[in-house]
Amino acid sequence: MDALFHIDKQHSVSLQDQLFELIANRVLDGLLQPGTAMPSTRVMASMLNISRNTVIITYEKLTAEGFLTSEKRKGYFVTNESLHSKNIQVTHPHQQQSKNLHWHFKKTYSDLPQFMKPKNWRSFTFPFIAGQVDHRLFPNREWQECCRIANNTSMLTQWLDDCPDQDDESLVEIIIKRVLPKRGIYCRPEEILITQGSQQSLYLIANILFNEETRIGIENPGYIDAANIFRAHSASLIPVSVYPDITDTPSTLKPLDYLYVTPSHQCPTTITMPISHRKALLNNCLQHNTIIIEDDYECELNFLHQPAPALKAMAPNDPIIYMGSFSKTIAPGLRLGFLVAPEPFIKEARILRKMMNRHTSGLVQKATALFISRGYYDSHIKRLIQHYHERYKTFTNTLYSFDQLPFTYSEPTGGSAVWITFNNPIKAADVLTACQKENLYFELGHFFYHSCKPNPHTARLGLSTLNESEIKDGLQLLIKTVLALK
Ligand SMILES: Cc1ncc(COP(=O)(O)O)c(C=O)c1O
Repeated sequence: MDALFHIDKQHSVSLQDQLFELIANRVLDGLLQPGTAMPSTRVMASMLNISRNTVIITYEKLTAEGFLTSEKRKGYFVTNESLHSKNIQVTHPHQQQSKNLHWHFKKTYSDLPQFMKPKNWRSFTFPFIAGQVDHRLFPNREWQECCRIANNTSMLTQWLDDCPDQDDESLVEIIIKRVLPKRGIYCRPEEILITQGSQQSLYLIANILFNEETRIGIENPGYIDAANIFRAHSASLIPVSVYPDITDTPSTLKPLDYLYVTPSHQCPTTITMPISHRKALLNNCLQHNTIIIEDDYECELNFLHQPAPALKAMAPNDPIIYMGSFSKTIAPGLRLGFLVAPEPFIKEARILRKMMNRHTSGLVQKATALFISRGYYDSHIKRLIQHYHERYKTFTNTLYSFDQLPFTYSEPTGGSAVWITFNNPIKAADVLTACQKENLYFELGHFFYHSCKPNPHTARLGLSTLNESEIKDGLQLLIKTVLALK
């Protein structure tokens, strides 16, 4: 029986919780059969070299949950009622004759260009990956506190029911009160929809507004998943040059129906669109009836100067659809963002969202609302900005130590990445192949081009998951690897 039990004393999960999960699993998997006598609390404690109290408390909890029964003076037994979930016996798929199935897919998506980072990217010593958070900076204690409060009985009842017709009121309210005013945006609750991040916002927009005749301008290079969503909805994609040329886009081409832009930190070049260009772009779009889809990507993370107001703030009466996200400030795994648009659009989007996933997890909405209202969101962003600034300074300082650089870069005003262009004829793909052998990874730039002529010399270096000394060492390694290529 000893072989059935093992716990890890170094693990962050408590010994009690580990033991509970272990025994419950053994019962459910059928390894501990109904009626089996459990080792006495004393024996179990000495077998695992843990305190007897821990075992007593765990056995009691297992008894309360129905996994064990206790008999006076005899000890604990696995409950007689069989909890082992018996699998239904069917032919295992691998034993079936493989038939050539023709699925007659009406649509396929697998041929769309995909930007994939390696599954094990975090195990690289130097993962220069953009858009992910540094786990070391995550405000774990504050987040846990908000989750705990969101799970208090009084709050729990606010999110246990599904509620597709309405989002968490406290979240909508706090976004209107604290998040949007920082972007210069004022709106009513009816003009907001909570989504599972900008990705879902884009899907809702494309599904409701686009068809084969829709002409949508997209920054080139630009966000690949936006392009894929637009392609999947049959819209004609018109790649447009990024700043400064973007300002005269709608007039130089056949007018666009929509223009998708990332003015705060252009994805992937990180360039911030200056106010004068924002004004010119707004004028042009207004003149040509082009509706702007504003993805306010990394808008909170400016470290060099005050962020410019959102386009939506500069033209509150124009039909601009605005997208915000908590992915870059809290975590992308949270899957939480929001759309701000005129009420009739939000009404449609809410119904479409209901058909897709009803709504974003109520628990996530509630915990995030608390996280913002308790001030943790603002202080976390403040800290992130400081860290990102330090990281960027380390990046530039490290470059100063080299007489000659094998690349140029566009200076960001903030955000979590730097866009670089290797000197001709160095190809980013060759550098990446060599760097991977040195345990260093970065993102190839050519994935971000929607036209047939991607620039093979470009790359994006994400700085958000590396601390200063890692950035310094990684960057030195990157440059030495490039120089050795020649
Ligand atoms: C420019 C841009 N917009 C939107 C998104 C999607 O963000 P979310 O995680 O909110 O879906 C990303 C993801 O990295 C992005 O790069």
